[in-house]
Amino acid sequence: MAEIDKPTREVDVPGDWTYASAPESRDIVHIRDRYGYYVGGEWLEPAETYETIAPRDEEPLAAVGQATAEDVGRAVAAARTAYADGWSSLPGSERAKYLFRIARILQERAREFAVLESLNGGKPIKESRDVDLPLAAAHFFYYAGWADKLEYAFPNRRPRPVGVAGQIIPWNFPLLMLAWKVAPALACGNTVVLKPAETTPLTALLFCDVLRQAELPDGVVNIVTGDGRTGAALVESEDVDKIAFTGSTEVGKAIQRQLAGTGKRLTLELGGKAANIVFDDAALDQAVEGIVNGIYFNQGHVCCAGSRLFVQESIYEPLVAKLERRLTTLRVGDPLDKNTDVGAINSAAQLEKIRELVASGEEEGATIYQPPCVLPEKGYWFAPTVFTNVAQSYRIAQEEIFGPVLSVLTFRTPEEAVEKANNTPYGLSAGVWTEKGSRILWMAQRLRAGVVWANTFNRFDPGSPFGGYKESGFGREGGRHGLEPYLEFEE
Ligand code: NAI
Ligand code: MG
Repeated sequence: MAEIDKPTREVDVPGDWTYASAPESRDIVHIRDRYGYYVGGEWLEPAETYETIAPRDEEPLAAVGQATAEDVGRAVAAARTAYADGWSSLPGSERAKYLFRIARILQERAREFAVLESLNGGKPIKESRDVDLPLAAAHFFYYAGWADKLEYAFPNRRPRPVGVAGQIIPWNFPLLMLAWKVAPALACGNTVVLKPAETTPLTALLFCDVLRQAELPDGVVNIVTGDGRTGAALVESEDVDKIAFTGSTEVGKAIQRQLAGTGKRLTLELGGKAANIVFDDAALDQAVEGIVNGIYFNQGHVCCAGSRLFVQESIYEPLVAKLERRLTTLRVGDPLDKNTDVGAINSAAQLEKIRELVASGEEEGATIYQPPCVLPEKGYWFAPTVFTNVAQSYRIAQEEIFGPVLSVLTFRTPEEAVEKANNTPYGLSAGVWTEKGSRILWMAQRLRAGVVWANTFNRFDPGSPFGGYKESGFGREGGRHGLEPYLEFEE
């Protein structure tokens, strides 16, 4: 028998198993060259504009208006007219129909919004597609359900709307923060003037098209763009009844000072420096996933990010080893690539702030670890970072970094964990990892944080109230509690 011929051509087996790129197409979204303000259902031409860019490569995306106090005044007047002309007295069941419509349109156009959110903000498409968009739609669905049940939500308290709400939102979850603000306001019968953050206006501007599609009456939602000056003009505006702000503690404090004595209602959702606490009986691999999600989700641009990791001393070494190994598998890169885990930093200013704080950590004596990764040359990037040997007094353990930077500290007893976790001016969120149910409850009672996650982190649901203690602000968003800031009660 003749020898069987061996195939001469070598089979092409890849030796390298790194992910091939899987870019999401941006053709689905049409970005205009120039945007004005959406006031009374019409587009107002801006006198002055600035360029909004894509943080992944600094590509200019569109010219956007820098609204003046006069422009803001027009938007507030349109909101007042819409309020008086019927929105506030519309039956709740009718308001609900609009909210349901908005929710459904957001679902239908989810891919378009997700691409635009990632392009303008830098967050991975995986997150905008699987978190931001579904949650934004869910908020509208959720508050649509309350619109005709306010009397039942607050029995015997005769709820009525507050009036015109001025809403100022940040750049970390642009569309989701819009949904958190707009949905409860409208459900309760208020009208709105909203200002998105200066670096991420595009999904809010695209949202105006959703309002048009939903045939929401003109002036019920008005959107003005611009930087902090526009925000300040909205806060100052005489005819605004309520301000809802999410952003830095510094600006939150300034707004509170500005509004003192005016009778205007205020809710503030500010910064955080959350403790993520891992006990020695926790499922370590699960905890590592939670730690990674806690601080590298959305590049750490998350007010409730688990930026301080407290590890029980007995498991410190194995946990840190597992964590550092896990970091080497995070894919940092193009936000529009479906395989990307960590996207671009939102702005040059934020990148500068992260760099400055990381340098302070190194100077103060902490040990830095960053996995090997090649960062793109253009755009704003920062490698996932872990600091060990961190003392409580270091700036990286005290200040909100708002970037992909984790500080690891240790503790021995539950009492010590609570004391260290609460040793911060903030109080937005916390995480506890343990197999012991009674310990979870014991910890949750003692942690001064608005949200305490047990064996999970960064989990959100429109039915669950969210908000802070101390310098993290006041007022709750989400759940039945989230209706209260938008209602007056006759008691
Ligand atoms: P920021 O607080 O200045 O911006 C948030 C929003 O407030 C934006 O829409 C901005 O235009 C507006 N704004 C700014 N100055 C204002 C004023 N005087 N009156 C009214 N509105 C004003 O936050 P920034 O400068 O973008 O970020 C600085 C730091 O703040 C971040 O590094 C982070 O630590 C923290 N931050 C926290 C957020 C959170 O979700 N808690 C969100 C954004 C930032
Ligand atoms: Mg600022």
